[in-house]
Parts: sequence; structure tokens; C-alpha cells
Amino acid sequence: MAAKHFLDLSDAGGDAIAAMLADAQDRKAARLGWPKGKADADAPLAGHVLGMIFEKNSTRTRVSFDIGMRQLGGTSLILDSGTSQLGRGESIADTARVLSRMVDAIMIRTDDHAKAEELAHHAHVPVINGLTDRSHPCQIVADLLTMVEHGKALPGLEVAWLGDGNNVLHSILEAAGIFKFNVRVGTPQGYEPDPEFVAMARANGAQVTLTQDAAEAAAGADIVVTDTWVSMGQEHVHNKLAAMAPFRVDAKLMARAKPDARFLHCLPAHIGDEVSAEVFESDQSIVFDEAENRIHAQKSILLWCFGKL
Ligand code: CP
Ligand code: NVA
Repeated sequence: MAAKHFLDLSDAGGDAIAAMLADAQDRKAARLGWPKGKADADAPLAGHVLGMIFEKNSTRTRVSFDIGMRQLGGTSLILDSGTSQLGRGESIADTARVLSRMVDAIMIRTDDHAKAEELAHHAHVPVINGLTDRSHPCQIVADLLTMVEHGKALPGLEVAWLGDGNNVLHSILEAAGIFKFNVRVGTPQGYEPDPEFVAMARANGAQVTLTQDAAEAAAGADIVVTDTWVSMGQEHVHNKLAAMAPFRVDAKLMARAKPDARFLHCLPAHIGDEVSAEVFESDQSIVFDEAENRIHAQKSILLWCFGKL
């Protein structure tokens, strides 16, 4: 049977992601208060090894996949481009074929999405996208889990995105099409998301509004989301930061959203840039639940890839 890759949310689809969210909630509840490295009672991935390739920095993705594998009864190892032969030019195709003989699944964080696709093409084991310049699907499974945990029903939800039209937004748009929620995207001109993701969300039944008016984007939102204005690998351009300033999520902008709106940020955050300290530290902010949920989401994604969900 062909390996089940998770390069984008559509690889799994709505039913499988709904099953992931349910499984993640069950497993999270079942191990409440346990030491974080202790395996779940059923240890469904006992004996399995995840190989993780990092061509970019990471805290959450790295730790949550490692701890997630331990909780499923397995283990993980890390290859970074600086110390592996990938960094000296060994091809992705050969790397995929070698790792497929040595580990049971591969996670890759890289720049060009085509590299993750090429890895998946040549691998005989599941390949998971741990972030590319194009998308960040693992983050959005954790975000959906966090929204649901905080009592938000996904269909019809009003999600406001403020700031840069980046990889995280792309995966939110993909999720919007799958779960039929609506996204109001507020970006400066020239920083809109890839039209392909907007078209996909709309074709799948989500309402997507693109605006250059931050207040319009935030108005009536159930969820307000932002991310760094400068993603990994991008240049720190002064013009961009100046253009982004009106899209900073501050108390005034949050006041435009519904009174019970929640604030999400995949982290790392740049306080005072994309979000004010007041909003980040407020009761509306659920960013640390969101960060913890990376573990629970990752576990469900892994189980899906191994055909165990
Ligand atoms: N949100 C996220 O992916 O964090 P890391 O870059 O720390 O993995
Ligand atoms: N958009 C950010 C997300 C970091 C988790 C980046 O790509 O750097």
C-alpha cells in the first residue's frame, strides 16, 4: 500500500481531520496529569521511529513531534541540514530512499514546498510537512483542536486573519474550505495570500473576504489570528513592517470582534509588532493552549499516517 503522506490538509480530508480532532481530545483527556514522556496506555506506535529533517529553526514542531512520538510509544531522531549530508548536496531522492530503509516516517521542515513533495515522491514511508514556505498544516490541526476545545463549532465560524498573507494563512484557508468556516483576511496591499488558496477555499464553500481595512477584517470575528510579519527565510524589510503596522492586533482591534472572541498565534510572537502585549496576555488569548495542542494534534496526524486512526 502507498504511504499516507500529510503534506497539506487535503491529503487527509474532512472526515480524517475530524477523526484526528476527536482522537486528540480523547488521548489528551486520558493522560491528564501524567508525566509528559510517559506513553499512552495503548502505545500504538511502539517500536516506530520518526526521522525529522529541519532546514529551518523550530521549537514547538521539534519538541511536539518528539514528545508526541514518545507518548505513542515510539521514538524520534533529528537531522538538520547543517550536520547531515543534505547540507552537502546529497539529493532529496536518495535521502528519501535511505531514510525509508531506516525510519518508519519522515517529517520535514524546509523552504520550498517542492522539496517536501519530492521527498514524499521518493519515500516509501509517510512524509509529514512540518512547515514549508507554502503551508503549515500541522499547525492548523492544532488550531482547529484549540478552537473546538474552546467551544467554537467550526462550520460558519468567523475567523479574522490580520497581517501577512503567509504559509499559516494558506493552511487556514484550506481548512476553511474543508470545514466551511469563513475567513476575513486583512493584509496590506501586496501581502495577500496566494490566490490559489483563496480560490480553493471559495470553491469548497467557504466565504473568503480580502480587505486592506484591519477593522473590517476583525469586525464580528469569533477567532482573531495573526502571525509574524516576517517569516523564516524572508528579509526583514523596513517597508513591510511599516505597511503592517495598521494590522497589529491591539485592544482596539480586538474590541471590533465578538465579546467572546479568542486570539490565536502559532508562535513565536513578536510582541509590539503583530500583537500588543495587552492582547497577547489577555484572557482572550489562548496561544499557550494552542502551543500545547501541537503535541496532541501531531499524535493524531502520525496515527492517521500509520493507518491507525
Ligand atoms: N508554530 C511553530 O511551528 O513553532 P516552531 O517554529 O517553534 O516549530
Ligand atoms: N509564518 C512563520 C511561521 C512560524 C511557525 C514562518 O514561516 O516563519
